[in-house]
Amino acid sequence: MQQPDGLPAEIDLSRPSAARVYDYFLGGAHNFDIDRQLAAQIAAMTPNLPATMRAGREFLRRAVRVLLDAGIDQFLDIGSGIPTVGNVHEVAQATNPKARVIYVDIDPVAVAHSRDLLAGNDTTGVIHGDLRDPDRILSEARRLDLLDFDQPVGILLAGVVHFVPDTDRPGDVLATLRATAAPGSHLVISHSTFEDQPQEMLDAQRLSARTATEITLRSRAEITAFFGDWTLLEPGVVHMELWRADSPSEVTVDGQRFGAFGGVARNDRSAG
Ligand SMILES: C[S@@+](CC[C@H](N)C(=O)[O-])C[C@H]1O[C@@H](n2cnc3c(N)ncnc32)[C@H](O)[C@@H]1O
Repeated sequence: MQQPDGLPAEIDLSRPSAARVYDYFLGGAHNFDIDRQLAAQIAAMTPNLPATMRAGREFLRRAVRVLLDAGIDQFLDIGSGIPTVGNVHEVAQATNPKARVIYVDIDPVAVAHSRDLLAGNDTTGVIHGDLRDPDRILSEARRLDLLDFDQPVGILLAGVVHFVPDTDRPGDVLATLRATAAPGSHLVISHSTFEDQPQEMLDAQRLSARTATEITLRSRAEITAFFGDWTLLEPGVVHMELWRADSPSEVTVDGQRFGAFGGVARNDRSAG
């Protein structure tokens, strides 16, 4: 396929990209026809989906605020996506102007836009990386010399672990990330689930096989296991809209309609 002018060659326009479809649903401008076609098809099957994606973003914002209240001032946001609306550093720096954030994404469009948007911002860094290779992400993050891994860090995995199939051992990936995090660190996960979901949601999930990144839906128990032996903050792993909603009116009668669980846990190990 012919690349439009100015587009880096590594950007694959022959397949839709999860990051660009997500950007489209959030109202961003960083997407192409092929992404919008898939988005339209998904939206027709699951009218709730755009709302689900926004709910995921809201969950992330609430979780980041809880981490800031706990004194976390540095964040590693893996699967950060295209910085469309309400980025983590904006949320964090509104409370703590010194908060630092490293954004990591596998998608070259997401990375290119993040780099553009954050050029000249010395409190943020961007890594083109793959969650399935956490050692590389961690060594690149150290090289940026922006976060201090001897201090508590907020590891954010919002809407990304479901892109790691069981064959790529997501449990091991999570164990590696937890093992590097200092005591007091927090882990935020939101993850799509098949639990309590209507058939059309499960059918739409199958469409994700057309992107470079197919989704693996998991049970609440499987998602909870990703937190390992860290201490889950209240209310535990719940449908993400129900996780510390700002106001009861925000919660719809059917909190399950969003098809994803969210949770936050803290590393209570003492320094060894
Ligand atoms: C649904 S978006 C979530 C964006 C953001 N975290 C949020 O919650 O608003 C998922 C992002 O994960 C990225 N992604 C998928 N697989 C990945 C992997 N193996 N490593 C890093 N990022 C990945 C996609 O490119 C996409 O930008």
